[in-house]
Amino acid sequence: MSSTRVLTGITTSGTPHLGNYVGAIRPAIVASQSQETDCFFFMADYHALIKCDDPARIERSRLEIAATWLAAGLDPERVTFYRQSDVPEVTELNWLLTCVTAKGQMNRAHAYKASTDINEAAGEDPDHGVTMGLFCYPILMAADILLFNPHKVPVGRDQIQHIEMARDVAARFNHMFGAGKELFILPEAHIEEHVATLPGLDGRKMSKSYDNTIPLFEGGSKALKDAIAKIVTNSLLPGEPKDPECHLVTIYEAFATAEQAAKFKTDLIAGLGWGDAKKQLLELIESQIGPMRERYAELMAHPERIEELLQIGAAKARAVAAPLLKEVREAVGLRRMNAISQAKEKAVKVALPMFKQFRLADGQFYFNFSDATGRLLLESQGFASGKDAGQWVGKLKKEGIAALDADAPVKLADGIVTDDVAVALDALSAV
Ligand code: TRP
Repeated sequence: MSSTRVLTGITTSGTPHLGNYVGAIRPAIVASQSQETDCFFFMADYHALIKCDDPARIERSRLEIAATWLAAGLDPERVTFYRQSDVPEVTELNWLLTCVTAKGQMNRAHAYKASTDINEAAGEDPDHGVTMGLFCYPILMAADILLFNPHKVPVGRDQIQHIEMARDVAARFNHMFGAGKELFILPEAHIEEHVATLPGLDGRKMSKSYDNTIPLFEGGSKALKDAIAKIVTNSLLPGEPKDPECHLVTIYEAFATAEQAAKFKTDLIAGLGWGDAKKQLLELIESQIGPMRERYAELMAHPERIEELLQIGAAKARAVAAPLLKEVREAVGLRRMNAISQAKEKAVKVALPMFKQFRLADGQFYFNFSDATGRLLLESQGFASGKDAGQWVGKLKKEGIAALDADAPVKLADGIVTDDVAVALDALSAV
């Protein structure tokens, strides 16, 4: 199997736009095609619940996002593609991690602090409208990650603090419960440096909050065309030379080969009109997105097919998560009780010195004492009754080596010194 495990989560809120495709979906899918990676991509629908209490929107967004990734070329045979909420091990680990996470550290999480800052600026109680879900967001994210022991976690810059928190929690957990073993691998954030953020219609970063997005699949090619028509340019006429340093060109470049991009720029400098430039941009994007949009429509019409793929994905994910969780549960002391008694019995059998009582042909009662390895240490004289022999065994067990004075009715076995007996009696009394 491949060497590097890569894991990332996709928050299922909203509908993906062209910026999400260029900035996250496309690079993740390309990375997943490498033979050297073993990818886990999941829909963070528990995280989505933190920001959204509209069940219909939650449902719709999960469907759209799954269909988008599959239509864009994600191969569910290669990649373990699943929903967070289909893996109950995530919430179990979440609790175990919650119990070793300092509240003070969560107080410093950016997302939480942003909320308290806004509240304070508005003269509200700092925790106004803050749920425990929002407050504990980084712990759930740590559970998502640590449960699969990935080496790399591709994320946007805004998520770096969360990955650092996951590393912290993992290190603390290893230290407290690992008994010298690395239960969790410390994950590393992976920032795609060469993936440019796509500008939106107005030239700022394409983002739903700026209302400057170009749709990916929704609304068909008509919506794509309408959005491209709205890309802000200037009033230069066809024939007049244009500056190729503009966001329309940046969007073109995100889909073009180097030669196509170079030609596009030369044409603009030579006077290509904005209308024609937009037509070329539409054709370029449509040639890549069009076929995907057809697959998207097909998938959206058959949610049961998506569901089936996600169920397979969940089973694959759980096959990895369950054994690790079992180990972690045992490490913190959540063990089966019969495991404890078995372990104790074993220890008694294997590791302890032993008194043995017996009767010989002369009719007398005897005992001897041997160490944990079975080496004979002491042999008693004969006693008239088993009770007398038993009393001496009791005395030796209770008083230890002090009971072994010159009058004691026992002798050291060949080659044995008093110290050997003392050690063995101590070992016995320690139990
Ligand atoms: N918080 C991430 C985001 O908003 C999504 C996410 C949830 C995630 N769990 C994760 C990303 C685990 C990486 C690993 O983008």
